[in-house]
Amino acid sequence: MNLRDAVVLITGANRGIGFAFAEAAMKRGARKVYAAARSPSTVTLKGVVAVQLDVTLAEEVAAAAQLCSDVTLVVNNAGIAHMGSLLGSKATEYAQRHFDTNVLGMLRVMQCFAPTLAANGGGAFLNVLSAASWINSGAMNAYAVSKAAAWSLTNGLRNELRAQNTQVLGLHMGFVDTDMTKGLDIPKVSPQSIVDKALDALEAGASEVLADERARQIHRGLTAEPPVYL
Ligand SMILES: NC(=O)c1ccc[n+]([C@@H]2O[C@H](COP(=O)([O-])OP(=O)(O)OC[C@H]3O[C@@H](n4cnc5c(N)ncnc54)[C@H](OP(=O)(O)O)[C@@H]3O)[C@@H](O)[C@H]2O)c1
Repeated sequence: MNLRDAVVLITGANRGIGFAFAEAAMKRGARKVYAAARSPSTVTLKGVVAVQLDVTLAEEVAAAAQLCSDVTLVVNNAGIAHMGSLLGSKATEYAQRHFDTNVLGMLRVMQCFAPTLAANGGGAFLNVLSAASWINSGAMNAYAVSKAAAWSLTNGLRNELRAQNTQVLGLHMGFVDTDMTKGLDIPKVSPQSIVDKALDALEAGASEVLADERARQIHRGLTAEPPVYL
Protein backbone atom coordinates (compact mmCIF):
# COMPACT_ATOMS: atom_id res chain seq x y z
CA MET A 1 0.00 0.00 0.00
CA ASN A 2 1.03 3.62 -0.54
CA LEU A 3 1.64 6.05 2.32
CA ARG A 4 0.67 9.01 0.16
CA ASP A 5 -2.88 9.98 1.17
CA ALA A 6 -3.11 7.08 3.65
CA VAL A 7 -4.88 7.58 6.97
CA VAL A 8 -2.61 6.02 9.58
CA LEU A 9 -3.18 5.02 13.21
CA ILE A 10 -0.15 4.11 15.32
CA THR A 11 -0.43 2.60 18.81
CA GLY A 12 2.12 3.79 21.37
CA ALA A 13 2.92 6.77 19.13
CA ASN A 14 4.04 9.12 21.90
CA ARG A 15 7.66 7.88 22.05
CA GLY A 16 10.26 5.46 20.68
CA ILE A 17 9.55 3.54 17.48
CA GLY A 18 5.89 4.64 17.46
CA PHE A 19 6.94 8.30 17.43
CA ALA A 20 9.32 7.56 14.53
CA PHE A 21 6.44 5.89 12.63
CA ALA A 22 4.26 8.97 13.13
CA GLU A 23 7.00 11.31 11.90
CA ALA A 24 7.82 9.14 8.87
CA ALA A 25 4.16 8.68 7.88
CA MET A 26 3.75 12.45 7.75
CA LYS A 27 6.96 12.83 5.72
CA ARG A 28 5.72 10.24 3.21
CA GLY A 29 2.53 12.20 2.61
CA ALA A 30 -0.08 10.51 4.80
CA ARG A 31 -3.35 12.49 4.69
CA LYS A 32 -3.91 12.06 8.44
CA VAL A 33 -1.95 10.47 11.30
CA TYR A 34 -3.72 9.36 14.46
CA ALA A 35 -1.10 9.15 17.22
CA ALA A 36 -2.68 6.79 19.75
CA ALA A 37 -1.35 6.76 23.30
CA ARG A 38 -2.36 5.71 26.80
CA SER A 39 -2.02 9.37 27.75
CA PRO A 40 -2.79 11.56 24.72
CA SER A 41 -1.25 14.56 26.54
CA THR A 42 2.18 12.92 26.00
CA VAL A 43 1.81 13.18 22.19
CA THR A 44 4.10 16.08 21.29
CA LEU A 45 4.48 15.72 17.52
CA LYS A 46 2.90 18.61 15.62
CA GLY A 47 0.31 17.89 12.93
CA VAL A 48 -0.98 14.55 14.26
CA VAL A 49 -4.33 13.79 15.89
CA ALA A 50 -3.83 12.46 19.43
CA VAL A 51 -6.14 9.57 20.34
CA GLN A 52 -6.76 7.88 23.70
CA LEU A 53 -5.83 4.19 23.43
CA ASP A 54 -4.63 1.66 25.98
CA VAL A 55 -4.52 -1.60 24.01
CA THR A 56 -5.29 -3.65 27.14
CA LEU A 57 -8.71 -1.99 27.47
CA ALA A 58 -11.29 -3.44 25.06
CA GLU A 59 -13.62 -0.46 25.46
CA GLU A 60 -10.85 2.01 24.50
CA VAL A 61 -9.94 -0.05 21.42
CA ALA A 62 -13.60 -0.14 20.33
CA ALA A 63 -13.98 3.60 20.93
CA ALA A 64 -10.83 4.36 18.91
CA ALA A 65 -12.11 2.24 16.01
CA GLN A 66 -15.40 4.12 16.06
CA LEU A 67 -13.69 7.52 16.20
CA CYS A 68 -11.07 6.75 13.52
CA SER A 69 -13.38 5.25 10.89
CA ASP A 70 -11.28 6.60 7.97
CA VAL A 71 -8.13 4.61 8.82
CA THR A 72 -6.38 2.69 6.01
CA LEU A 73 -3.18 1.65 7.87
CA VAL A 74 -2.86 0.49 11.48
CA VAL A 75 0.62 0.18 12.99
CA ASN A 76 0.48 -2.19 15.97
CA ASN A 77 3.50 -0.82 17.79
CA ALA A 78 2.57 -0.59 21.51
CA GLY A 79 4.58 -3.02 23.60
CA ILE A 80 6.23 -3.70 26.92
CA ALA A 81 9.42 -5.56 27.84
CA HIS A 82 10.42 -6.39 31.40
CA MET A 83 13.35 -8.40 32.67
CA GLY A 84 12.63 -11.62 34.51
CA SER A 85 13.28 -15.35 34.48
CA LEU A 86 10.46 -17.77 33.64
CA LEU A 87 11.18 -19.53 36.95
CA GLY A 88 11.03 -16.37 39.05
CA SER A 89 8.30 -15.90 41.66
CA LYS A 90 6.53 -13.30 39.49
CA ALA A 91 6.87 -15.22 36.22
CA THR A 92 3.15 -15.93 35.72
CA GLU A 93 2.16 -12.36 36.48
CA TYR A 94 4.84 -11.02 34.10
CA ALA A 95 3.80 -13.44 31.36
CA GLN A 96 0.16 -12.33 31.73
CA ARG A 97 1.12 -8.65 31.49
CA HIS A 98 3.26 -9.26 28.41
CA PHE A 99 0.49 -11.27 26.78
CA ASP A 100 -2.18 -8.72 27.60
CA THR A 101 -0.24 -5.93 25.86
CA ASN A 102 1.95 -7.58 23.21
CA VAL A 103 -0.43 -10.33 22.03
CA LEU A 104 -4.01 -9.68 23.13
CA GLY A 105 -3.55 -5.92 22.64
CA MET A 106 -2.61 -6.57 19.02
CA LEU A 107 -5.54 -8.99 18.64
CA ARG A 108 -8.05 -6.48 20.09
CA VAL A 109 -6.84 -3.78 17.73
CA MET A 110 -6.94 -6.07 14.68
CA GLN A 111 -10.43 -7.36 15.51
CA CYS A 112 -11.83 -3.85 15.95
CA PHE A 113 -10.07 -2.26 12.97
CA ALA A 114 -10.44 -5.11 10.42
CA PRO A 115 -13.99 -3.99 9.44
CA THR A 116 -12.74 -0.38 9.15
CA LEU A 117 -9.94 -1.41 6.78
CA ALA A 118 -12.35 -3.55 4.76
CA ALA A 119 -14.77 -0.63 4.43
CA ASN A 120 -11.89 1.59 3.26
CA GLY A 121 -10.70 -0.74 0.49
CA GLY A 122 -8.52 -3.28 2.33
CA GLY A 123 -5.61 -1.26 3.67
CA ALA A 124 -2.93 -2.76 5.89
CA PHE A 125 -1.81 -3.76 9.36
CA LEU A 126 1.88 -3.32 10.17
CA ASN A 127 2.72 -5.42 13.24
CA VAL A 128 5.87 -4.57 15.18
CA LEU A 129 7.40 -7.90 16.20
CA SER A 130 11.04 -8.67 17.05
CA ALA A 131 13.92 -11.06 16.44
CA ALA A 132 12.81 -12.29 19.89
CA SER A 133 9.94 -13.99 18.00
CA TRP A 134 12.50 -16.66 17.03
CA ILE A 135 14.97 -16.90 19.92
CA ASN A 136 14.62 -16.77 23.69
CA SER A 137 18.14 -16.38 24.90
CA GLY A 138 18.29 -13.63 27.48
CA ALA A 139 16.76 -12.15 30.55
CA MET A 140 13.58 -10.94 28.81
CA ASN A 141 12.06 -14.40 28.68
CA ALA A 142 8.36 -13.53 29.04
CA TYR A 143 8.83 -10.84 26.39
CA ALA A 144 10.24 -13.37 23.92
CA VAL A 145 7.37 -15.79 24.62
CA SER A 146 4.88 -13.00 23.88
CA LYS A 147 6.64 -11.93 20.66
CA ALA A 148 6.68 -15.55 19.41
CA ALA A 149 2.92 -15.62 19.99
CA ALA A 150 2.48 -12.22 18.30
CA TRP A 151 4.39 -13.54 15.26
CA SER A 152 2.05 -16.52 15.02
CA LEU A 153 -0.97 -14.25 15.52
CA THR A 154 0.29 -12.05 12.68
CA ASN A 155 0.72 -15.03 10.36
CA GLY A 156 -2.71 -16.43 11.23
CA LEU A 157 -4.51 -13.14 10.74
CA ARG A 158 -2.70 -12.52 7.43
CA ASN A 159 -4.40 -15.66 6.12
CA GLU A 160 -7.80 -14.65 7.50
CA LEU A 161 -7.59 -11.08 6.19
CA ARG A 162 -6.54 -12.06 2.66
CA ALA A 163 -10.21 -12.39 1.70
CA GLN A 164 -10.84 -8.70 2.42
CA ASN A 165 -7.64 -7.61 0.61
CA THR A 166 -5.86 -6.38 3.75
CA GLN A 167 -2.05 -6.50 3.65
CA VAL A 168 -0.44 -7.74 6.90
CA LEU A 169 3.25 -6.92 7.33
CA GLY A 170 5.33 -8.40 10.17
CA LEU A 171 8.36 -6.31 11.19
CA HIS A 172 11.34 -7.97 12.89
CA MET A 173 14.49 -6.36 14.24
CA GLY A 174 17.13 -6.67 16.94
CA PHE A 175 17.96 -3.93 19.41
CA VAL A 176 16.69 -0.41 18.73
CA ASP A 177 17.81 2.70 20.58
CA THR A 178 14.69 3.61 22.63
CA ASP A 179 13.64 3.73 26.28
CA MET A 180 13.01 -0.03 26.07
CA THR A 181 16.71 -0.78 25.69
CA LYS A 182 18.00 2.05 27.91
CA GLY A 183 20.82 0.75 30.09
CA LEU A 184 21.60 -2.20 27.81
CA ASP A 185 25.20 -1.87 26.70
CA ILE A 186 24.80 -3.47 23.27
CA PRO A 187 24.86 -2.30 19.63
CA LYS A 188 21.54 -0.70 18.66
CA VAL A 189 20.10 0.74 15.47
CA SER A 190 18.06 3.93 15.24
CA PRO A 191 14.23 3.87 15.28
CA GLN A 192 14.25 5.90 12.04
CA SER A 193 16.31 3.28 10.17
CA ILE A 194 13.85 0.55 11.21
CA VAL A 195 10.80 2.60 10.30
CA ASP A 196 12.23 3.48 6.87
CA LYS A 197 12.80 -0.22 6.06
CA ALA A 198 9.34 -1.11 7.35
CA LEU A 199 7.55 1.54 5.29
CA ASP A 200 9.58 0.69 2.16
CA ALA A 201 8.50 -2.96 2.60
CA LEU A 202 4.89 -1.93 3.19
CA GLU A 203 4.86 0.16 0.02
CA ALA A 204 6.42 -2.76 -1.90
CA GLY A 205 3.53 -5.02 -0.81
CA ALA A 206 5.65 -7.32 1.41
CA SER A 207 4.35 -9.66 4.14
CA GLU A 208 7.47 -9.69 6.30
CA VAL A 209 10.53 -7.46 6.72
CA LEU A 210 13.77 -8.14 8.57
CA ALA A 211 14.85 -4.56 9.17
CA ASP A 212 18.40 -4.91 10.53
CA GLU A 213 21.39 -7.20 10.26
CA ARG A 214 20.76 -8.79 13.67
CA ALA A 215 17.27 -9.94 12.63
CA ARG A 216 18.61 -11.26 9.31
CA GLN A 217 21.45 -13.11 11.06
CA ILE A 218 19.12 -14.75 13.59
CA HIS A 219 16.65 -15.67 10.84
CA ARG A 220 19.43 -17.35 8.82
CA GLY A 221 20.41 -19.25 11.96
CA LEU A 222 17.00 -20.91 12.30
CA THR A 223 18.04 -23.58 9.79
CA ALA A 224 21.70 -23.81 10.88
CA GLU A 225 23.01 -26.94 12.59
CA PRO A 226 22.55 -26.53 15.52
CA PRO A 227 19.79 -23.93 15.07
CA VAL A 228 20.34 -20.57 16.71
CA TYR A 229 17.49 -21.00 19.23
CA LEU A 230 19.05 -24.08 20.90
N1 LIG B 1 13.56 -1.21 21.31
C1 LIG B 1 13.87 -2.40 20.82
O1 LIG B 1 15.04 -2.85 20.88
C2 LIG B 1 12.82 -3.23 20.12
C3 LIG B 1 13.25 -4.33 19.38
C4 LIG B 1 12.32 -5.12 18.73
C5 LIG B 1 10.97 -4.81 18.83
N2 LIG B 1 10.57 -3.74 19.58
C6 LIG B 1 9.14 -3.48 19.67
O2 LIG B 1 8.88 -2.18 19.19
C7 LIG B 1 7.69 -1.66 19.80
C8 LIG B 1 7.96 -0.29 20.35
O3 LIG B 1 9.00 -0.38 21.29
P1 LIG B 1 9.94 0.85 21.72
O4 LIG B 1 11.32 0.36 21.64
O5 LIG B 1 9.55 2.07 21.00
O6 LIG B 1 9.55 0.92 23.25
P2 LIG B 1 9.28 2.17 24.23
O7 LIG B 1 10.17 3.28 23.88
O8 LIG B 1 9.33 1.57 25.59
O9 LIG B 1 7.78 2.59 23.86
C9 LIG B 1 6.71 1.70 24.10
C10 LIG B 1 5.44 2.37 23.64
O10 LIG B 1 4.35 1.44 23.83
C11 LIG B 1 3.36 2.11 24.61
N3 LIG B 1 2.55 1.18 25.40
C12 LIG B 1 2.95 0.30 26.34
N4 LIG B 1 1.89 -0.34 26.85
C13 LIG B 1 0.79 0.15 26.20
C14 LIG B 1 -0.59 -0.10 26.28
N5 LIG B 1 -1.11 -1.00 27.15
N6 LIG B 1 -1.43 0.58 25.45
C15 LIG B 1 -0.95 1.49 24.57
N7 LIG B 1 0.35 1.81 24.48
C16 LIG B 1 1.21 1.12 25.28
C17 LIG B 1 4.13 3.08 25.49
O11 LIG B 1 3.26 4.04 26.03
P3 LIG B 1 3.56 4.81 27.44
O12 LIG B 1 4.44 5.98 27.10
O13 LIG B 1 2.21 5.18 27.93
O14 LIG B 1 4.26 3.81 28.33
C18 LIG B 1 5.11 3.63 24.46
O15 LIG B 1 4.48 4.55 23.63
C19 LIG B 1 7.29 -2.69 20.88
O16 LIG B 1 6.28 -3.53 20.37
C20 LIG B 1 8.59 -3.47 21.07
O17 LIG B 1 8.35 -4.78 21.55
C21 LIG B 1 11.47 -2.94 20.21
